[in-house]
Amino acid sequence: MKGKINYSVTDGIAILEVDNPPVNPLSDGVRHGLIESMEKAESDDSVVGIVLTGKGRSFIAGADISEFGQQIEGPSIHDAFEKIEKSTKPVIAAINGSALGGGLETALCCHYRVSSKQGFIGLPEVNLGLLPGAGGTQRLPRLVGPAEALKIMLSGRHIPAVKALDMGVIDSLSEGDIVEDAVAFAKDVAEKNETHPLVRNLNEKVLAARGDENIISEARALAAKTRKGQFAPGKIIQCVEEAINLDDFDEGMKKEAEYFIECLLNPQREAMIHIFFGERAASKINDVPKETPKMDINKAGIIGSGTMGGGIAMCFANIGIPVHIVDQDEENLKKGLAAIERNYKFMVDRGRMSAEQMEKTFGLISSGLSYEEISDVDIVIEAVYENLDLKLEIFKKLDEAVKDDAILASNTSGLDVDALADCTKRPGKVVGTHFFSPANVMRLLEVVRGEKTSNETLATIMSLGKVLKKAPVVSLNAPGFIGNRMLFGYTTQANKLLLEGALPHQVDSALENFGMSMGPFRMLDLVGLDLGWRARKLSGTESPITAKINDALCDLDRYGQKNGKGFYNYVEGSRAPHPAPENEAIYEQVSKDNGFERREISDQEIIDRCILALVNEGAKILEEGVAQRSGDMDVVGDMDVVYINGYGFPIWRGGPMQYANMEGLDVISAKIDEFAKNDPEFWQKADLIGSLSEVKGRFGDAPAPEDRKPVSGFNKSSVAGNL
Ligand code: 3HC
Repeated sequence: MKGKINYSVTDGIAILEVDNPPVNPLSDGVRHGLIESMEKAESDDSVVGIVLTGKGRSFIAGADISEFGQQIEGPSIHDAFEKIEKSTKPVIAAINGSALGGGLETALCCHYRVSSKQGFIGLPEVNLGLLPGAGGTQRLPRLVGPAEALKIMLSGRHIPAVKALDMGVIDSLSEGDIVEDAVAFAKDVAEKNETHPLVRNLNEKVLAARGDENIISEARALAAKTRKGQFAPGKIIQCVEEAINLDDFDEGMKKEAEYFIECLLNPQREAMIHIFFGERAASKINDVPKETPKMDINKAGIIGSGTMGGGIAMCFANIGIPVHIVDQDEENLKKGLAAIERNYKFMVDRGRMSAEQMEKTFGLISSGLSYEEISDVDIVIEAVYENLDLKLEIFKKLDEAVKDDAILASNTSGLDVDALADCTKRPGKVVGTHFFSPANVMRLLEVVRGEKTSNETLATIMSLGKVLKKAPVVSLNAPGFIGNRMLFGYTTQANKLLLEGALPHQVDSALENFGMSMGPFRMLDLVGLDLGWRARKLSGTESPITAKINDALCDLDRYGQKNGKGFYNYVEGSRAPHPAPENEAIYEQVSKDNGFERREISDQEIIDRCILALVNEGAKILEEGVAQRSGDMDVVGDMDVVYINGYGFPIWRGGPMQYANMEGLDVISAKIDEFAKNDPEFWQKADLIGSLSEVKGRFGDAPAPEDRKPVSGFNKSSVAGNL
């Protein structure tokens, strides 16, 4: 059994301490322990009140997520909660840290809630494809009102104790020792009050919401905007409708249980939980021991004040680390800082930060023209454009200018990190940190481990990534790393579909309906078609067939969003794409010139070819061991975490590899074989797909090889290769 309850009595108050490290989920041992301890306290006449708290940094982090989808023995959460709610003695939740999901639901069953200042609450089940299924959807609306409860449940956000006090979720804030304060609170209410309040009986706010259709329609609009394609949000809204409209609390609980099961059985739940554990596993690296020392990062330097440099600087400032940007061009620097200021102002205008917060945060960003100004920083992230010679020059200078033990990182999307390391006297301190644009928003951080990157550097960057609120994933130093290597096949297929007869908006809408946040042609227009075109021209090489349409558009000055026309047309001041019928003649001509006969293409073919290109390349990465850790399920998770946090893959499908697992690798294999009949050169099926499909296996069943295949082929500029 996992977890237990530590029981003690102080001054007539029983203290029940949940002990299930590290974050105290409600595993079977905790549920057993809660029932036993509640019975013990109830039957002890010397006990007048009960305090429930958590050991360590968490109160209770919710149900035990690893139990979902498993056969559960013993008492349920509901059995344990019934003991709390039916207690004749006042039960006080002493929230010492995270009270999330089932953790907050436990607290909502208690008669009173006291929290330390570090405490925070939330119902994040929606992030796991679930709804709060232990009374959260029925009790929270009774405390904070249905409209607020819906916002909390649909966002899954964490709410700090001070705010929770304002909202009325907690009754009192503890300034000192939370358990001592809760014991005093318990003694006080036990002495003064004959009866103790239960949230289930507070009907005023739900009754007031009856007949107010706006609450539900606003929640539906919010879910449509922020949780496109997800199943659980609709069910959460239905639960709250029941809370509003049913007279009997227990009837509402029955409905909640019914809808919870629907979520539990929905494949989205498995997919989203795969990502929850995948993100956590990604931060562990097999050959880097947990106890590896990490450097303190108290000050950072950034080279380059462009979009990436500015966004990365914001990441540091946002968490309170001073950061200094160096750019060789004063005008660029001014523009870059103005862009950062605009971003912060936008956040203030949207109510996402206060004017004071902005002043404080923006004040942490300084700038200048000389490398000497960053001599004392703990890390420098170089974020100039993708040109190896330029980066080599910068790394040589940084190696001289910056203190010896500082980390030198490159925000490269595909250049050779070993080449950068080898031009310095500190190769162990050199690492790739590939942020995604906009860097202050996107969660993915691809951490590129060079041959000589030290364990200390790697451990420091992984922990810094988490502090910066990113999802860090390690890749070996191989062309395209993980994400862009997979992307190459995806965009190749999108371009081939265009040559074969599809139109950009058809490809984009098929993939957006599949769940991708942005189709490939909208993405290309956003990035700029001219980047690849210029790089190809500079290199003097013949463009690949898949870039011919792109080149033809650029020849007609159609560069994408930046000049209002690319694959789509744009009206000034708007990013909304409008189909460009004038391009169709170009597509037809390029198709004809390259021997393609245009035909009708179904949306399903578009989805299959683009997504299976990702899957096939992902399987090859698994075979080669480019993803950093050993060949178990975790590495499969790495690729999925990359795609969800950096490339707009729908979280509810669990990432490309999980999608393939859930479709069945035999189905995937057969489709690839079919595509290979027309395009054998592109569709070279990964051996792993063939072998796993024969045994009806899944990615993650077969270990990747211990020895990875040698990888080579870095370009001097990574732009042309990626687009
Ligand atoms: N169940 C099982 N394991 C959990 C867990 C949970 N609810 N929450 C966290 N863990 C595990 C993690 O997998 C990780 O394991 P590992 O060390 O083996 O990788 C370990 O606990 C530590 O987690 P983090 O690395 O995430 O620790 P942090 O300190 O960064 O964050 C946290 C702590 C904020 C509590 C974060 O872990 C978290 O958000 N947890 C999930 C909370 C949640 O979603 N709760 C709802 C669960 S569903 C539910 O309650 C249904 C109910 O309504 C019926």
